[in-house]
Amino acid sequence: MTAATATATAGTNIALVKYWGKRDETLNLPATGSLSLTLDRLGTRTRVAFDGGDGARDRVTLDGAPAAEKVATRVTLFLDRVRARAGIAARATVVTDNSVPTASGLASSASGFAALAVAATGAAGLALAPTELSVLARLGSGSAARSIFGGFVEMARGARADGTDAAAHPLDAGDGWNVRLVVAITAAGEKALGSTAAMRRTAETSPYYEAWVRGVDGDLAAARAAIAGRDLAALGAVAERSAMRMHASAMAADPPILYWNPATIAAISRVRALRAEGASAFFTIDAGPHVKVLCDAREAEAVAAALAETPGVLRTLIAAPGSGARIVESA
Ligand code: DP6
Repeated sequence: MTAATATATAGTNIALVKYWGKRDETLNLPATGSLSLTLDRLGTRTRVAFDGGDGARDRVTLDGAPAAEKVATRVTLFLDRVRARAGIAARATVVTDNSVPTASGLASSASGFAALAVAATGAAGLALAPTELSVLARLGSGSAARSIFGGFVEMARGARADGTDAAAHPLDAGDGWNVRLVVAITAAGEKALGSTAAMRRTAETSPYYEAWVRGVDGDLAAARAAIAGRDLAALGAVAERSAMRMHASAMAADPPILYWNPATIAAISRVRALRAEGASAFFTIDAGPHVKVLCDAREAEAVAAALAETPGVLRTLIAAPGSGARIVESA
């Protein structure tokens, strides 16, 4: 008998209220809630079959080549949870492709672990509710919990020690609101310091970490209200201050963590200038040098063009709100 196979897709998500810090590293429990927009681009497609892998180990292929040891180990630890839950012993074959090259620094663990959670449970014959899938995806990567759902999504910090209430839920599909996210790529290659290590260093050494954590609930409430009222300027203001505060807390770590390059700052300035000219455009920045701009759909082309001619910006792309992770093929 051939093993069941399931293929899933997931879009990445961009946090407008950032997740930066954990209350438990083993269960990957966030120190605060967060809020994001799932995108229709920059996603992952993953096929899983519990077919024995290469015998001793899971066989993991990423973007057409055997995955690096670090990635393969993270995938195996994740599959071990699915195997334990389903009562499966067999190793697996995992074939995963990102819609942008992994080394671009844009491919994210968010879409990766959301697609893996859906494909692996599908192949294992586990029927999990969306909230359970979100909890499972979180164990792979905190931001992945949000990519289970489409549109605007809120991730709960949760209060339980076992993490069963640290899950995301959808707020608004985003399809009735004409927003876009313009990505300005400002460097080639992968980021210098991964989010997990950077969060740990910030929590352990930054004098601003506690202040950062204290501010998140207020930002979440403001973002929720802005989404409910379709108020892009209010949502954009929250997104900018959340990103700046997250980076400020990281910059104050010891040794300091600085993700930005000159083009990052040039792009921030450009967004502010566009706004002074009347555009509805607001930036956010993740654990890397790229700048992501939330804007009105009617202005997206002009925002992308302005960013494309900003010194140091290598290329731009425009993404729309996208749907949640789902099975696209099973056999
Ligand atoms: C800056 O989800 O990549 O993008 O849970 O350690 O895998 P781990 O971290 P990860 O961190 C995301 C950090 C961020 C902000 C966000 O997406 O909320």
